[in-house]
Amino acid sequence: VSAGPRRELAGIAREARRLLETVRESRWSGVEALPETPAAAAPRRGAAPRPGAARPRHPAPPEAPEQAAAARVPEPIPPGLDTLEAVAAAVASCTKCPLHATRTKTVPGEGSPTARLMFVGEAPGADEDEQGRPFVGRAGQLLTDMIVKGMGLAREEVFIANVLKCRPPGNRDPLPNEVAACLPYLRAQLAIVRPEVLCALGRHAAHALLDTKAPIGRLRGRFLQYEGIPLMPTFHPSYLLRTPGDKKIAWEDLKLVLARLGLPVPGARGAGGGA
Ligand code: URA
Ligand code: SF4
Repeated sequence: VSAGPRRELAGIAREARRLLETVRESRWSGVEALPETPAAAAPRRGAAPRPGAARPRHPAPPEAPEQAAAARVPEPIPPGLDTLEAVAAAVASCTKCPLHATRTKTVPGEGSPTARLMFVGEAPGADEDEQGRPFVGRAGQLLTDMIVKGMGLAREEVFIANVLKCRPPGNRDPLPNEVAACLPYLRAQLAIVRPEVLCALGRHAAHALLDTKAPIGRLRGRFLQYEGIPLMPTFHPSYLLRTPGDKKIAWEDLKLVLARLGLPVPGARGAGGGA
């Protein structure tokens, strides 16, 4: 093939890629609203599928081939990450992104391996980096209050993780290469725990799990899904500390989470034992 047609082909390929990007961004690719079905109706619980094992895909509707083309193909979970302990050990010695050089402790996440509910935050802050535990600083205290005082759950019965397992210096936003390097650990944790409901705290968690760039204010308030798991995006507790007026809105989201789990919703009619 001579240089002329080759250049032309390269131009066409570039144009196709640009079109695909436009489709991805305009359609919130990978984001699908779930119908409102009670958790009780959803099939579930039992042995967690081993990472790498065949898992249900979401078949693309045949009438939307461009969406199928744009749908994200998640990277496979590396072999060996099939228990929470194995994930934590891999994280502890991880040097896959530059954050390993500045961390004090890794923060893999913690909670019940059979949690029905999992929270996903952004990245460790100073307190978390020091202690090696997620959400133990000021934002963590607010999250703990939301879980315990608000939802009536114990912190130990849920699972709490972050997209990044090492602290970004100065708490700056995660960089795309850091998210890409670290995401397999979170995906492994999700495959192991297989919570019935996921709650993404803030835009970084929502964007990492949903492959969308939509603002959190537009994503929150209804269930989307991550690999078949209902996912509620809501505001990050750090944002709520700066914007306490939005706590009421976040609480609405958490009430939907409780309802989805079939748990009593404080303040709702019928809460406390009515049929
Ligand atoms: N903010 C987060 O996103 N995660 C933590 O663990 C602490 C603060
Ligand atoms: Fe590894 Fe994640 Fe830490 Fe980067 S942030 S070094 S990918 S564990």
